[in-house]
Amino acid sequence: MTALTTPTTTSATVPQPASAERTATPRRFLMCPPTYFDVVYAINPWMDLGVPVDAGRALAQWEHLRATYEAHGHHVEVIDPVPGLPDMVYAANGGVVLGGRALAARFTYPERRPEGIAYEAWFAGAGDGVVSLGQAAEQNEGEGDLLLVGDVMLAGTGFRTSRAAHAEVAALLGVEVVTLELVDPRYYHLDTALAVLDGGPSPLVAYLPEAFSPASQAVLAERYPDAIVATPEDAAVLGLNAVSDGLHVFLTDRATGMHARLRERGFEPVGVDLSELLKGGGSVKCCTLELRPALAAPLSQEARA
Ligand code: ARG
Repeated sequence: MTALTTPTTTSATVPQPASAERTATPRRFLMCPPTYFDVVYAINPWMDLGVPVDAGRALAQWEHLRATYEAHGHHVEVIDPVPGLPDMVYAANGGVVLGGRALAARFTYPERRPEGIAYEAWFAGAGDGVVSLGQAAEQNEGEGDLLLVGDVMLAGTGFRTSRAAHAEVAALLGVEVVTLELVDPRYYHLDTALAVLDGGPSPLVAYLPEAFSPASQAVLAERYPDAIVATPEDAAVLGLNAVSDGLHVFLTDRATGMHARLRERGFEPVGVDLSELLKGGGSVKCCTLELRPALAAPLSQEARA
Protein backbone atom coordinates (compact mmCIF):
# COMPACT_ATOMS: atom_id res chain seq x y z
CA MET A 1 0.00 0.00 0.00
CA THR A 2 1.48 3.33 -0.96
CA ALA A 3 0.37 6.69 0.32
CA LEU A 4 -0.61 8.85 -2.58
CA THR A 5 0.28 12.48 -2.66
CA THR A 6 -1.79 14.60 -4.95
CA PRO A 7 0.34 16.82 -7.15
CA THR A 8 -0.28 20.44 -6.37
CA THR A 9 1.05 23.41 -8.25
CA THR A 10 3.06 25.49 -5.86
CA SER A 11 2.96 29.20 -6.06
CA ALA A 12 4.27 31.88 -3.77
CA THR A 13 1.05 33.84 -3.95
CA VAL A 14 -1.74 31.25 -4.09
CA PRO A 15 -2.23 29.36 -0.80
CA GLN A 16 -2.68 25.64 -1.34
CA PRO A 17 -5.37 23.70 0.51
CA ALA A 18 -3.84 21.77 3.39
CA SER A 19 -6.17 18.84 2.67
CA ALA A 20 -4.67 17.95 -0.71
CA GLU A 21 -2.36 15.31 0.79
CA ARG A 22 -4.21 12.12 1.60
CA THR A 23 -2.85 9.36 3.82
CA ALA A 24 -4.37 5.98 4.62
CA THR A 25 -4.40 4.81 8.24
CA PRO A 26 -5.10 1.14 9.04
CA ARG A 27 -8.52 0.49 10.56
CA ARG A 28 -10.10 -2.31 12.53
CA PHE A 29 -13.54 -3.33 11.31
CA LEU A 30 -16.28 -5.69 12.48
CA MET A 31 -18.29 -7.45 9.77
CA CYS A 32 -21.00 -10.12 9.71
CA PRO A 33 -21.29 -12.58 6.80
CA PRO A 34 -24.70 -12.56 5.04
CA THR A 35 -25.19 -16.28 5.65
CA TYR A 36 -28.86 -15.77 6.55
CA PHE A 37 -29.40 -12.61 4.49
CA ASP A 38 -32.83 -12.31 2.87
CA VAL A 39 -35.64 -9.81 2.38
CA VAL A 40 -38.55 -11.22 4.36
CA TYR A 41 -39.94 -7.97 5.82
CA ALA A 42 -39.86 -4.41 4.51
CA ILE A 43 -38.71 -1.70 6.92
CA ASN A 44 -37.26 0.69 4.35
CA PRO A 45 -38.27 1.60 0.77
CA TRP A 46 -35.41 -0.42 -0.75
CA MET A 47 -36.80 -3.71 0.53
CA ASP A 48 -39.19 -5.35 -1.96
CA LEU A 49 -40.61 -8.70 -0.90
CA GLY A 50 -41.26 -9.50 -4.58
CA VAL A 51 -37.56 -9.38 -5.55
CA PRO A 52 -35.69 -12.60 -4.76
CA VAL A 53 -32.28 -12.52 -3.06
CA ASP A 54 -29.40 -14.69 -4.26
CA ALA A 55 -27.78 -15.66 -0.95
CA GLY A 56 -24.75 -17.24 -2.60
CA ARG A 57 -24.09 -14.11 -4.60
CA ALA A 58 -24.55 -11.93 -1.50
CA LEU A 59 -21.94 -14.00 0.31
CA ALA A 60 -19.47 -13.82 -2.59
CA GLN A 61 -19.88 -10.02 -2.80
CA TRP A 62 -19.41 -9.68 0.94
CA GLU A 63 -16.28 -11.91 0.88
CA HIS A 64 -14.91 -9.67 -1.86
CA LEU A 65 -15.47 -6.55 0.28
CA ARG A 66 -13.74 -8.19 3.23
CA ALA A 67 -10.78 -9.25 1.05
CA THR A 68 -10.59 -5.75 -0.41
CA TYR A 69 -10.30 -4.20 3.06
CA GLU A 70 -7.59 -6.71 3.99
CA ALA A 71 -5.71 -6.08 0.75
CA HIS A 72 -5.61 -2.39 1.71
CA GLY A 73 -4.08 -3.14 5.10
CA HIS A 74 -7.20 -3.15 7.28
CA HIS A 75 -8.01 -5.71 9.94
CA VAL A 76 -11.43 -7.38 9.80
CA GLU A 77 -13.06 -9.09 12.79
CA VAL A 78 -16.06 -11.30 12.08
CA ILE A 79 -19.15 -11.80 14.25
CA ASP A 80 -21.08 -15.07 13.87
CA PRO A 81 -24.35 -14.58 11.96
CA VAL A 82 -27.51 -15.68 13.74
CA PRO A 83 -30.20 -17.68 11.89
CA GLY A 84 -33.46 -15.72 11.62
CA LEU A 85 -31.72 -12.33 11.64
CA PRO A 86 -31.47 -11.53 7.90
CA ASP A 87 -30.30 -7.91 8.41
CA MET A 88 -27.44 -8.80 10.76
CA VAL A 89 -25.05 -8.42 7.82
CA TYR A 90 -25.43 -4.64 8.25
CA ALA A 91 -22.85 -4.55 11.04
CA ALA A 92 -22.71 -0.75 11.15
CA ASN A 93 -26.03 -0.89 12.95
CA GLY A 94 -24.73 -3.14 15.72
CA GLY A 95 -23.45 -0.26 17.81
CA VAL A 96 -20.81 2.42 18.04
CA VAL A 97 -17.28 2.01 19.37
CA LEU A 98 -15.23 4.99 20.45
CA GLY A 99 -12.10 5.07 22.57
CA GLY A 100 -12.49 1.32 23.05
CA ARG A 101 -15.95 1.75 24.60
CA ALA A 102 -18.73 -0.06 22.78
CA LEU A 103 -22.39 0.89 23.06
CA ALA A 104 -24.62 -1.75 21.46
CA ALA A 105 -27.70 -0.80 19.45
CA ARG A 106 -31.35 -0.77 20.46
CA PHE A 107 -33.26 -1.27 17.22
CA THR A 108 -36.45 0.49 16.12
CA TYR A 109 -38.20 -2.51 14.56
CA PRO A 110 -38.92 -5.73 16.48
CA GLU A 111 -37.51 -7.80 13.58
CA ARG A 112 -34.02 -6.44 14.28
CA ARG A 113 -34.11 -6.15 18.09
CA PRO A 114 -32.30 -9.43 18.82
CA GLU A 115 -29.31 -8.12 16.83
CA GLY A 116 -28.65 -5.60 19.61
CA ILE A 117 -28.18 -8.48 22.03
CA ALA A 118 -25.92 -10.41 19.62
CA TYR A 119 -23.66 -7.39 19.04
CA GLU A 120 -23.57 -6.60 22.76
CA ALA A 121 -22.42 -10.17 23.46
CA TRP A 122 -19.68 -9.81 20.82
CA PHE A 123 -18.44 -6.52 22.32
CA ALA A 124 -18.42 -8.07 25.80
CA GLY A 125 -16.19 -10.90 24.61
CA ALA A 126 -14.05 -8.92 22.16
CA GLY A 127 -11.14 -8.10 24.49
CA ASP A 128 -8.31 -6.36 22.65
CA GLY A 129 -9.07 -2.93 24.07
CA VAL A 130 -12.85 -3.09 23.58
CA VAL A 131 -15.01 -2.66 26.69
CA SER A 132 -18.79 -3.13 26.48
CA LEU A 133 -21.04 -0.42 27.89
CA GLY A 134 -24.02 -2.70 27.31
CA GLN A 135 -27.01 -1.92 25.16
CA ALA A 136 -28.19 1.65 24.65
CA ALA A 137 -31.25 2.60 26.74
CA GLU A 138 -32.62 4.72 23.90
CA GLN A 139 -33.54 3.81 20.31
CA ASN A 140 -30.13 3.74 18.65
CA GLU A 141 -29.02 2.11 15.38
CA GLY A 142 -25.30 2.48 15.90
CA GLU A 143 -23.08 3.71 13.11
CA GLY A 144 -26.03 3.71 10.76
CA ASP A 145 -26.87 7.05 12.37
CA LEU A 146 -23.68 7.91 14.29
CA LEU A 147 -20.74 9.04 12.20
CA LEU A 148 -17.58 10.34 13.80
CA VAL A 149 -15.85 13.23 12.00
CA GLY A 150 -12.68 14.05 13.91
CA ASP A 151 -13.86 14.61 17.47
CA VAL A 152 -17.48 15.35 16.58
CA MET A 153 -20.22 12.74 16.30
CA LEU A 154 -22.74 13.55 13.57
CA ALA A 155 -26.00 11.93 14.61
CA GLY A 156 -28.98 11.25 12.37
CA THR A 157 -32.59 11.19 13.51
CA GLY A 158 -36.03 11.22 11.93
CA PHE A 159 -36.48 7.55 11.06
CA ARG A 160 -34.49 5.36 13.46
CA THR A 161 -32.11 6.75 16.11
CA SER A 162 -33.88 9.13 18.53
CA ARG A 163 -32.77 12.52 19.80
CA ALA A 164 -32.74 11.03 23.29
CA ALA A 165 -30.21 8.50 21.97
CA HIS A 166 -28.00 11.36 20.79
CA ALA A 167 -27.93 12.73 24.35
CA GLU A 168 -27.17 9.25 25.70
CA VAL A 169 -24.23 8.87 23.28
CA ALA A 170 -22.85 12.28 24.25
CA ALA A 171 -23.00 11.38 27.94
CA LEU A 172 -21.70 7.80 27.73
CA LEU A 173 -18.99 8.30 25.12
CA GLY A 174 -18.02 11.83 26.13
CA VAL A 175 -18.20 13.22 22.63
CA GLU A 176 -19.78 16.32 21.12
CA VAL A 177 -22.89 15.23 19.23
CA VAL A 178 -24.41 17.23 16.38
CA THR A 179 -28.00 16.26 15.56
CA LEU A 180 -29.01 16.11 11.90
CA GLU A 181 -32.59 15.52 10.81
CA LEU A 182 -33.24 13.15 7.92
CA VAL A 183 -36.40 13.79 5.87
CA ASP A 184 -36.38 11.33 2.93
CA PRO A 185 -37.43 7.73 3.75
CA ARG A 186 -34.99 6.37 1.13
CA TYR A 187 -32.19 7.87 3.22
CA TYR A 188 -33.44 6.57 6.55
CA HIS A 189 -29.99 6.24 8.15
CA LEU A 190 -27.39 9.00 8.24
CA ASP A 191 -24.85 6.71 6.53
CA THR A 192 -27.06 6.56 3.42
CA ALA A 193 -27.02 10.36 3.07
CA LEU A 194 -23.55 11.36 4.27
CA ALA A 195 -20.06 9.89 3.95
CA VAL A 196 -17.12 10.77 6.20
CA LEU A 197 -14.08 11.09 3.96
CA ASP A 198 -11.52 12.72 6.23
CA GLY A 199 -11.69 13.05 10.02
CA GLY A 200 -8.37 14.89 10.30
CA PRO A 201 -7.58 18.55 10.88
CA SER A 202 -9.39 19.53 7.65
CA PRO A 203 -12.51 17.40 8.01
CA LEU A 204 -14.28 16.47 4.81
CA VAL A 205 -17.66 14.88 4.18
CA ALA A 206 -19.85 14.20 1.15
CA TYR A 207 -23.63 14.44 1.44
CA LEU A 208 -26.95 14.79 -0.30
CA PRO A 209 -28.42 18.11 0.95
CA GLU A 210 -32.04 17.28 0.13
CA ALA A 211 -31.96 14.25 2.43
CA PHE A 212 -31.79 16.70 5.38
CA SER A 213 -34.21 19.25 6.84
CA PRO A 214 -33.47 22.89 5.90
CA ALA A 215 -32.10 23.53 9.41
CA SER A 216 -29.73 20.55 9.18
CA GLN A 217 -28.64 21.56 5.67
CA ALA A 218 -27.63 24.92 7.18
CA VAL A 219 -25.64 23.15 9.94
CA LEU A 220 -23.78 21.03 7.36
CA ALA A 221 -23.09 23.99 5.05
CA GLU A 222 -21.63 25.95 7.93
CA ARG A 223 -19.49 23.14 9.32
CA TYR A 224 -18.30 21.76 5.99
CA PRO A 225 -18.23 24.58 3.42
CA ASP A 226 -15.83 22.45 1.40
CA ALA A 227 -17.98 19.30 1.31
CA ILE A 228 -18.62 17.22 -1.78
CA VAL A 229 -22.27 17.71 -2.70
CA ALA A 230 -23.57 14.41 -4.02
CA THR A 231 -25.94 14.13 -6.95
CA PRO A 232 -29.32 12.41 -6.54
CA GLU A 233 -28.04 9.76 -9.01
CA ASP A 234 -25.05 8.84 -6.85
CA ALA A 235 -27.14 8.83 -3.67
CA ALA A 236 -29.78 6.62 -5.33
CA VAL A 237 -27.25 3.79 -5.75
CA LEU A 238 -26.12 4.34 -2.13
CA GLY A 239 -22.90 5.99 -3.33
CA LEU A 240 -22.71 7.84 -0.01
CA ASN A 241 -22.67 4.60 1.95
CA ALA A 242 -18.89 4.63 1.89
CA VAL A 243 -15.90 3.85 4.10
CA SER A 244 -12.77 6.00 3.90
CA ASP A 245 -9.37 5.24 5.39
CA GLY A 246 -8.18 8.75 4.64
CA LEU A 247 -6.99 7.90 1.14
CA HIS A 248 -8.98 4.95 -0.23
CA VAL A 249 -12.73 5.30 -0.31
CA PHE A 250 -14.58 1.99 -0.54
CA LEU A 251 -17.97 2.39 -2.21
CA THR A 252 -20.30 0.89 -4.78
CA ASP A 253 -18.91 0.73 -8.30
CA ARG A 254 -22.24 2.15 -9.53
CA ALA A 255 -21.65 5.64 -8.12
CA THR A 256 -19.53 6.83 -11.03
CA GLY A 257 -20.09 10.54 -10.39
CA MET A 258 -18.92 10.14 -6.80
CA HIS A 259 -15.81 8.27 -7.98
CA ALA A 260 -14.92 11.29 -10.15
CA ARG A 261 -15.55 13.82 -7.34
CA LEU A 262 -13.38 11.75 -4.99
CA ARG A 263 -10.50 11.64 -7.46
CA GLU A 264 -10.68 15.43 -7.89
CA ARG A 265 -10.19 15.75 -4.12
CA GLY A 266 -7.18 13.45 -4.01
CA PHE A 267 -8.89 10.24 -2.87
CA GLU A 268 -8.62 6.82 -4.50
CA PRO A 269 -12.10 5.37 -4.96
CA VAL A 270 -12.21 1.59 -4.63
CA GLY A 271 -15.38 0.33 -6.29
CA VAL A 272 -17.09 -2.85 -5.13
CA ASP A 273 -20.25 -4.63 -6.28
CA LEU A 274 -22.72 -5.13 -3.42
CA SER A 275 -25.84 -5.33 -5.60
CA GLU A 276 -27.41 -8.17 -3.57
CA LEU A 277 -27.06 -6.27 -0.31
CA LEU A 278 -28.63 -3.20 -1.93
CA LYS A 279 -31.88 -5.20 -1.94
CA GLY A 280 -31.98 -4.81 1.85
CA GLY A 281 -31.21 -1.10 1.61
CA GLY A 282 -27.52 -1.22 2.42
CA SER A 283 -24.09 -0.99 0.85
CA VAL A 284 -20.44 -0.80 1.90
CA LYS A 285 -20.68 1.29 5.07
CA CYS A 286 -23.74 -0.59 6.31
CA CYS A 287 -21.68 -3.79 6.27
CA THR A 288 -18.82 -2.22 8.26
CA LEU A 289 -18.56 -1.23 11.92
CA GLU A 290 -15.38 0.57 12.91
CA LEU A 291 -13.71 -0.59 16.13
CA ARG A 292 -11.92 2.47 17.43
CA PRO A 293 -9.40 1.46 20.08
CA ALA A 294 -8.61 3.22 23.32
CA LEU A 295 -5.59 5.50 23.17
CA ALA A 296 -2.45 3.38 23.33
CA ALA A 297 -1.03 5.21 26.34
CA PRO A 298 -2.53 7.59 28.88
CA LEU A 299 -1.66 11.24 28.42
CA SER A 300 1.66 12.17 30.00
CA GLN A 301 1.78 14.65 32.89
CA GLU A 302 3.21 17.16 30.47
CA ALA A 303 0.40 16.73 27.96
CA ARG A 304 -2.20 17.06 30.70
CA ALA A 305 -0.72 20.21 32.18
N1 ARG B 1 -32.65 -3.56 6.06
C1 ARG B 1 -31.87 -2.82 7.00
C2 ARG B 1 -32.75 -1.85 7.76
O1 ARG B 1 -33.65 -1.31 7.20
C3 ARG B 1 -30.76 -2.11 6.31
C4 ARG B 1 -29.79 -1.44 7.22
C5 ARG B 1 -28.70 -0.75 6.49
N2 ARG B 1 -27.68 -0.28 7.34
C6 ARG B 1 -27.19 0.95 7.40
N3 ARG B 1 -26.19 1.20 8.17
N4 ARG B 1 -27.72 1.93 6.71
O2 ARG B 1 -32.57 -1.61 8.93
